[in-house]
Amino acid sequence: MTALLQMEQITKKYGSFAANQAVNFSLHAGEIHAIVGENGAGKTTLMRMLYGMEQPTAGRIVLRGEEKHFASPADAIKSGIGMVHQHFMLFPSCTVAENIVIGNEPTKGLWFDRKQAVERVRQLSETYRMTVDPLQTVGHCPLGTQQRVEILKVLYNGAGIIILDEPTAVLTPLEVKELLVTLKGLAEQGKSIILITHKLHEVMEVADRITVLRNGVVTGTLSTKETSVEEISCLMVGRDLAGISRVERQSGEVILDVNGLFIQGDGGKPVLDNIDFTVRAGEIVGIAGVSGNGQSELIQALSGLLQVDRGSIALQGKQIANQPPLAVREAGLAHIPEDRYLWGAAKDASVKENAIMGHYRKPTARRFGFLRHKQLDGIVRNWVSRFAIKTESIHEKAQNLSGGNLQKVIVAREIAHGTPFLIAAEPTRGVDIGAMEFIHRQLVEKRDQGEAVLLVSSELTEIMTLSDRVLVMYEGCIVGELSGADISEEAISLLMAGGGQR
Ligand SMILES: Nc1ncnc2c1ncn2[C@@H]1O[C@H](COP(=O)(O)OP(=O)(O)OP(=O)(O)O)[C@@H](O)[C@H]1O
Ligand SMILES: [Mg+2]
Repeated sequence: MTALLQMEQITKKYGSFAANQAVNFSLHAGEIHAIVGENGAGKTTLMRMLYGMEQPTAGRIVLRGEEKHFASPADAIKSGIGMVHQHFMLFPSCTVAENIVIGNEPTKGLWFDRKQAVERVRQLSETYRMTVDPLQTVGHCPLGTQQRVEILKVLYNGAGIIILDEPTAVLTPLEVKELLVTLKGLAEQGKSIILITHKLHEVMEVADRITVLRNGVVTGTLSTKETSVEEISCLMVGRDLAGISRVERQSGEVILDVNGLFIQGDGGKPVLDNIDFTVRAGEIVGIAGVSGNGQSELIQALSGLLQVDRGSIALQGKQIANQPPLAVREAGLAHIPEDRYLWGAAKDASVKENAIMGHYRKPTARRFGFLRHKQLDGIVRNWVSRFAIKTESIHEKAQNLSGGNLQKVIVAREIAHGTPFLIAAEPTRGVDIGAMEFIHRQLVEKRDQGEAVLLVSSELTEIMTLSDRVLVMYEGCIVGELSGADISEEAISLLMAGGGQR
């Protein structure tokens, strides 16, 4: 088979650091080709060059036998290459149809032809069997639908090659299933797909071939039929993973006590409806649920980012409901936020500045009122090495870190606070499997030290491996609690789907 696309000997340097080193990558027509590798391995960088967002330092890109130079995404789009970024770039207040045709709108005379736009989007959605309502406002669509809009937009612009950078990271398990079916369908219709993901079971399910990157170098290109998850992870990390083990432990006194928490929603339906629960010292309590059932609001209410209408939140006996975030932190709460770009990190600031956010207030960080920079540098360097955060230096700008490495900075910072209570919301979103294990071990360690952890995650396996108790949320309520041997995927899924007793 001749390749549709070839990236040959691609090198990308940032200063003296090579994010990609002599990378060879090829793509066949109608193929799903997965790119895997640890955080910072160079996956996104390679695709940004194909999409014209970055220029290679050396090497060439050959498309249908012809050498190409993509100076911008517009160039790449003209050549039939489209990219769906991990953070959607949609206009929330516009409709699905408007978002899809924007930049290339059908016109009638001088005017935007809304009727034709809607019709074209309907046809596209039928051709590619991706259900959307062209007239719905994008901001009101679930994330899975927003992603379909992104893909349809790429198809509307005539892409034959579709790049997806960690498309499943933010989706619910059901949405993931639907996406994988969609991708297979697109490949059957002759589209070529490049899929970056950390989830190897997804790779095994849909990919035809897999390219593994490690430290910017290709360590293997494999055919899915002839490989295994073990072989791929070995090429990714260069060692076997240990797995996580946990012992039962007696939990201690109540650290967090939530009673009758209630928040009225816009549409008359409460977003949090009389939530009661406790988290004890030495315990990880998992919150499961299909996203959008009140989990985000609960986290925000607990951490002082959202006002509650009724109810109480006691942290070690102190009332923290409707207190400002800083007061809540001082009362003993640390928080790994769900959306690291919105709440977690200042992208223009350095790794160090991001890492010490919140820590610099501590008396130990100061001497005669001045920050003890040398000492802080030492602490941050220690985290960088313990969490294997890939960065040139602790003074590097956060925005130059790969997605997963920035996540690790935030996780390190929040865990290191050593607070009695930690909220870990999607703590491993976007991190590679090695880092995932490391973060899991840190959470268990925190628990074993007698601290309390509230784990909110859309990954059922994560909830099941780590939680001592699981609470399931559905439509703003806690509809069930499972502990010990009762924690099973079936039991949680049933409750998540609303099949529980209220
Ligand atoms: N503009 C930049 N300046 C300096 N270094 C950069 C820049 N962009 C990326 N890097 C570095 O290049 C390396 C590869 O980054 P890239 O984003 O490609 O990783 P990735 O494989 O996509 O990782 P992840 O799985 O975490 O998303 C990282 O170490 C990153 O810090
Ligand atoms: Mg990336």
